[in-house]
Amino acid sequence: MANCTRDAAYTDGDVDTNFTGLRTLNEIADERFSRRQTLVGGLQASATAFLGTSLLAACGGDEFIPAETTVNAGQDATTTAGRLVTIAPTISGNGTFTVEQFAGPTVTLTGTGATRSFFAPGVAASTTLGFRIAANGQVDDVIITVNPAQFGFTAVARNTNDVVTVPAGHNVTVLTRLGDPILPGAGAFANNGTDTNYAARIGDHGDALYYYGLSAAGMRDDNSSIRGLLVQNHENLNVQYLHPNGPTNLTSGVRPAAEALKEIEAHGVSIVEIQDTGNRNWVMVANSALNRRITPNTPVVFNGPVRGTDFLKTVGSPSGTTGTGTINNCANGYAEWGTNLTCEENWAGYFRRDNTGAGADTANRTARELTALRRYGVNSSRGNYNWASLAGTDPIYTRWDARAGTGAATTDYRNEPNTFGWVVEIDPFNPASAPRKRTALGRIAREGAWISNLVEGQRLAVYMGDDSRREYLYKFVSDATWTNADRNRSDRLAVGDKYLDAGTLYVARFNADGTGTWLPLVFGQVPNRPAVGSEPEYVFQSQADILVNTRLAADAVGATPMDRPEWTAVNPANGEVYLTLTNNNATLRPITGTDAANPRHYVEPVGTGSTSGNPNGHIIRLRETGNSAAATTFNWDIYLFGADSTDANATNVNLSGLNADNDFSSPDGLWFARPQNPSGVGRPLLWIQTDDGAFTDRTNNQMLAALPGRVGDGGARTITNTASNGTTATQATIVGTAATAANLRRFLTGPLEAEITGVDTTPDGRTIFVGIQHPGEDASDPNAPSSNWPASQAGAAPGVRPRSGVVAITRADGGIIGL
Ligand code: FEO
Ligand code: CA
Ligand code: CA
Repeated sequence: MANCTRDAAYTDGDVDTNFTGLRTLNEIADERFSRRQTLVGGLQASATAFLGTSLLAACGGDEFIPAETTVNAGQDATTTAGRLVTIAPTISGNGTFTVEQFAGPTVTLTGTGATRSFFAPGVAASTTLGFRIAANGQVDDVIITVNPAQFGFTAVARNTNDVVTVPAGHNVTVLTRLGDPILPGAGAFANNGTDTNYAARIGDHGDALYYYGLSAAGMRDDNSSIRGLLVQNHENLNVQYLHPNGPTNLTSGVRPAAEALKEIEAHGVSIVEIQDTGNRNWVMVANSALNRRITPNTPVVFNGPVRGTDFLKTVGSPSGTTGTGTINNCANGYAEWGTNLTCEENWAGYFRRDNTGAGADTANRTARELTALRRYGVNSSRGNYNWASLAGTDPIYTRWDARAGTGAATTDYRNEPNTFGWVVEIDPFNPASAPRKRTALGRIAREGAWISNLVEGQRLAVYMGDDSRREYLYKFVSDATWTNADRNRSDRLAVGDKYLDAGTLYVARFNADGTGTWLPLVFGQVPNRPAVGSEPEYVFQSQADILVNTRLAADAVGATPMDRPEWTAVNPANGEVYLTLTNNNATLRPITGTDAANPRHYVEPVGTGSTSGNPNGHIIRLRETGNSAAATTFNWDIYLFGADSTDANATNVNLSGLNADNDFSSPDGLWFARPQNPSGVGRPLLWIQTDDGAFTDRTNNQMLAALPGRVGDGGARTITNTASNGTTATQATIVGTAATAANLRRFLTGPLEAEITGVDTTPDGRTIFVGIQHPGEDASDPNAPSSNWPASQAGAAPGVRPRSGVVAITRADGGIIGL
């Protein structure tokens, strides 16, 4: 007998003692008649036992059990991963007894009275768990067979309602919204355009998010599911709603500084504490000392090979070692040493840098600089929000004017565009720490950065998509080999220095036969980038040159241009890497431009019109050779093809066999469930989010749950493509196994004109956080908004301005989301 102290681990219902991150015993007991649970036993129990979470045995009272004691453990039963299982043994008489698990992966047992509950573990194949109940020499066993995960919800129908719709039995709470005050100095949000000081509020266009657990003492606790920090990117603006009557002088003249300041500060990253006040009722903690806003004005430092080079020297940073802020933060990544990797995507458009015309920024530029600037699209005559119209008044505005003057580079902001496009590592637990830009990972219009599964003694990889049509998939492989001791160090950014500042950057080539190659972007190995049209040959001069002009290097080595790479995700059970390719069009990828990895070209009806190319996108995946993150070769297939199942040709377009319960378009967000709970183990759940414009005639954007197989679970296919002029062509590709109701199901739809982006759960998997970005983005008149979300979530709210936000979704029965 392991331990005979009553309540060794728990008190009855006190959250503070609930150190497993699971909910309280009473709560579990309340849930035991839920539709999803497996209940064995069922006869009236007459004995009581208490179990410690780490114990496989427990002790009852100390009364004498008479010789006629009988024990009935209950009927054997079968369930699936993640479901709540309750064992209710029947024991005659009062007295000492034990419950012991004797077979299968160890589970955490909770319960009061005679019942014992646990969440069935995640399994890849049918697995047997055995429990033995013994009392006074009498013994009985019960066997629970756990099968791989199945969905535990009903598909949400396609719809165009102005709310977040979730399956029956689920609850939606709006947790954070644009403008919510999180720091002193920000008043309540009026939501009428008069609000200021966005550096103290939740920013606009919430994108990727991640939850970081906190202990009762407010320290990092990766297992806490009741208190944490929500780190969220703020990618961009619905600028029309930020001012009383929309923006002033957005396209000509000089912007009012107060308007520009609001817009700048509404970008960046927010870090805000959230708490479960009980029963997974989540609230934001507006006055937490850990709350923080990182904006385009926050001091940052550069690390890695580009630090201190001429590429980064500006009048604001003559040493090239520091920089200012982060912008257009899109997807992110999580480092298991406790940091966040926020990624800078469409930074190029914020700068004024006329490429042509009377004011063209060419006279004081070298040919090399001009090639580089044009390759990244730094060629706007005003910048997205015309902040450069305020140049000369304050560096926070002047820096957005990237035109080169006649003096040295350290006299102006000609190099300011080189300070964006990086992975930026943030320590969310230390509000005083300066974010570090990791230049070893290259500079692109980076969607996200996801780290491979960590293996002691092996190097780690970071997988990254460059989000523009016909851009590439990259990975960085660390020089340092992983050591588990680094997981819980307190100097988290120093751990990042170890793994993210030295290594090899690669770009992917997808071969027609289902193999692929990682091409190293290493100075001395990368050939000159050949002349393209009027663009001259580009000769690389250093590794820093390659890392600043990563796209040019990838061109030079012959990487495969893709249909707009978005998020990457790594299957926690088998290490396979998934990449969303959101869409492409006929202009940038004509019917003659298909390849095996970007194979479709078709005409898609949308509303009363049509669009052509690959408007619905696909998801590709790869398995590294030898399952090694450092491998230089891989195998790939196409996991899923987006399609409108109502319109799509079944043979050549709807290649995954989607139907009305799981059809989707333009996949973007992509995230595997955490392996800390059964939804991320064995057969992990994959969450897929859309940012679509080719299927919104049928449904608002959505999030699906998936239970994927493996690379190679389908087969070769040759399809016939059709262009808008009727031309046809065949293309061979490799298609994963078809979608079915059992492996792909719509979980959520969003409000009008919103993209669904950003997803994470608590470690226990029982709350899922989902980002709702830019509802009502299409309206031009802020006083006639085209969505009223999140106000509309509680009922009609005509005229109320929409706000990006984060919802917390839970199950009424307290179960693990998705299963
Ligand atoms: Fe920011 Fe590619 O989405
Ligand atoms: Ca259609
Ligand atoms: Ca995105």
